[in-house]
Amino acid sequence: KDSIGIGLIGIGVIGGAVARVLKDRSAKLAELAGAPVVLRKIKIAPVDLTRPIIKEFSAELFTTDEAEFFGNPDIDIVVEAIGGEFPALRYLEKALVAGKHVVSSNKEVISKHAAELLALARKNNVGLRFEASVGGGIPLLEPFQYDLSVNEIKGIFAIINGTTNYILTRMAQEGIEFAEALKQAQALGYAEANPKNDIEGNDAVYKLAILSMLAFDTEVKPEDIYREGITKLQGRDFQYAKELGFVIKLLAIAKESDGQIELRVHPVFLPDDNFLANIDGVFNAVLTTGDLVGDVIFSGQGAGPAPTSSAVVADVLAAAQDVASCVGNRMRWRLDGGKKLMPMSE
Ligand code: HSE
Repeated sequence: KDSIGIGLIGIGVIGGAVARVLKDRSAKLAELAGAPVVLRKIKIAPVDLTRPIIKEFSAELFTTDEAEFFGNPDIDIVVEAIGGEFPALRYLEKALVAGKHVVSSNKEVISKHAAELLALARKNNVGLRFEASVGGGIPLLEPFQYDLSVNEIKGIFAIINGTTNYILTRMAQEGIEFAEALKQAQALGYAEANPKNDIEGNDAVYKLAILSMLAFDTEVKPEDIYREGITKLQGRDFQYAKELGFVIKLLAIAKESDGQIELRVHPVFLPDDNFLANIDGVFNAVLTTGDLVGDVIFSGQGAGPAPTSSAVVADVLAAAQDVASCVGNRMRWRLDGGKKLMPMSE
């Protein structure tokens, strides 16, 4: 191939950051992929035309026409950065059926539809990657799929929502109000379009479903996970926690025992010398235990445009290398690992 064509869906906080990296780092990407990696089209909704970032790119890059976008034979890799279940699901299906490799940062659609999307990717012999969907810029899903894959994973303890960790940190350390902390998280580009998904724990549930699916080779749906967000916490909870030497964190937990997996997301009082108690602000951390490797820790910025674009473009590069060398679906994850999910309990 003379060049590798990218079609991007969405030019919001994440899509915009990805478009900029593809443009600004094109020389490096071409060198790594072995051929120029060219952003050919950006599919937007009419409302996106008012975004200032539009002016940074040539007008003919943009289209609102689905048929033109998905039918473009010069697009090899489709990158979806719009978030949410619909219409993202339809876009991912269209891209896979059209034989495009797919990269998505969308935890909601992946956690709810992983099985059907994986089947479509295999059927059409293309890759389906979503490193940015969990933990922002932290390399996490590749390690679970490859480096740790020989292990039996025994457990996962994680802070995997940047918005709530930022809010809890600011409330505990500076005593600022919940609403003010949330506003700042939104201004920094951490929060979801609908921040309810962050503060009520849904976002962490989506991410735990994806991590568990890869860690245990088992289908996990968001509704299989016990969920409690941070909206019921009050100022005095932080005060008591501090007096008693504890820190409040929203944890995502997966525990394996005798082939059964227990899954939960809720606020936890952690002793203040615990490793996870000291992960602050937008940082995420994932502690996991494998039977061979023992304990492993991943940590870094879990949200925000720059870290997330780092993970998205890493996936684009992996897909570009596959396109350049005519490799189809080489995803190692599967959903038939035989683990059972424990009935949900509080
Ligand atoms: N809203 C998410 C968070 C973005 O705050 O973690 C990153 O997935």
